[in-house]
Amino acid sequence: MKVLSIETSCDETSLAIFEVEEIDTSLNFNVLSHLTNSQAQFHNQFGGVYPKMAKREHGNNIIPLFIETLRESVLLVEKETSQSINLENVSQYLDREPELKENISLFLNQYQLPKFDLIVVTNGPGLEPTLWVGINFAKTLGVLTNTPVIPSNHMEGHIVSVFPHKEKTFKIPNIEFPILSLLVSGGHTELVFIEKWGQYKKIGQTKDDAVGEAFDKVARLLGYPYPGGPEISKFASYAREQGLPNIVTLPRPMLHSKDYNFSFSGIKTAVLYTTKDKKFSIDEKATIAREFEDAVVQVLIKKTTLAIEEFGVEALIVAGGVSANNYLKQEFEKYVTENNKNLTVLFPEKNMTGDNALMIGIAGCLDYMRNKKIPPLDAIVAEGNLSL
Ligand code: KG4
Ligand code: ZN
Repeated sequence: MKVLSIETSCDETSLAIFEVEEIDTSLNFNVLSHLTNSQAQFHNQFGGVYPKMAKREHGNNIIPLFIETLRESVLLVEKETSQSINLENVSQYLDREPELKENISLFLNQYQLPKFDLIVVTNGPGLEPTLWVGINFAKTLGVLTNTPVIPSNHMEGHIVSVFPHKEKTFKIPNIEFPILSLLVSGGHTELVFIEKWGQYKKIGQTKDDAVGEAFDKVARLLGYPYPGGPEISKFASYAREQGLPNIVTLPRPMLHSKDYNFSFSGIKTAVLYTTKDKKFSIDEKATIAREFEDAVVQVLIKKTTLAIEEFGVEALIVAGGVSANNYLKQEFEKYVTENNKNLTVLFPEKNMTGDNALMIGIAGCLDYMRNKKIPPLDAIVAEGNLSL
């Protein structure tokens, strides 16, 4: 099958085109093109993502990105004669997407419609206005080319983001179940028990801020740009390398609570009080970043390792934007060498940690291969709070 997958749940517009084949119950993938257009620079000026602006950016970016993705996949074909295509039967999808509508018309004037066997699109969780851009794009292509469209859960996408490696081809390995997954992103912090693909049980989650959100907010307090995670991480590791003395002690919320839940807003508030009306040198700020990262990583490791022991899992998958954090990865590796050498620990490659369409496509295909169900188009709607 040749598949197009689409991700627009937050501030990355991402598209992937790949071939997938089922061989002996395993799925083999061959990626033709995978491109992501990040709006991070754009949102940097506002210090965060405003859904309406993000929606407009997706509407402007998705077709130019589609053209590039098709070109890389050698599927972009210019039209020989310019005959106009009737958009009446997709007007219900495009009327609410003015930028997308204009760009699609331009595309159709110049290029032939490509043919896929399946279109996979994120339907949640995420920002509903931005999710709709991807969904309406998927439905439009689906109707115009008579291609089935299936929805894909963004969090399931993060879980399977650990499988692609640098090569264009990869397959889903046979890992032993059950698996535990720690999902850490800008919108989520959850511990998920995976009985089998498709059977997920959330055993813990944040009661307030997501861990990535805490990184972003603390970065803002320290005057670092958005997204804050990579900045905090950079300065924290500088403070560690230099052995700079600590100037603050931050709390480790819920470290000893007997459940698998998290809370990060208290650490952020503690940083707020520490930094209020004070000026810090670059080095002093770096030590606050390090103390913040230490606090967060300590809580994440403690709760996750507790769950690993209680549930007796064979493998751990850490995924989501924050899984790009080197210190978090190092600390998990340390736990494995010191305590649990048989545990398989999987982190995504750096280019797969953030939001991307390939992970959405993999999750969608795993689902489709299991139940072979194509929902009616009307049943695919943006679900901001969609759960696993
Ligand atoms: O998964 P993701 O790309 O988007 C959501 O679905 O939310 O995650 C984005 C989050 C941001 O909060 C960003 O600051 C954080 O991931 N992040 C990091 C690092 N790189 C990105 N947090 C800590 N350390 C990093 N190296
Ligand atoms: Zn995400």
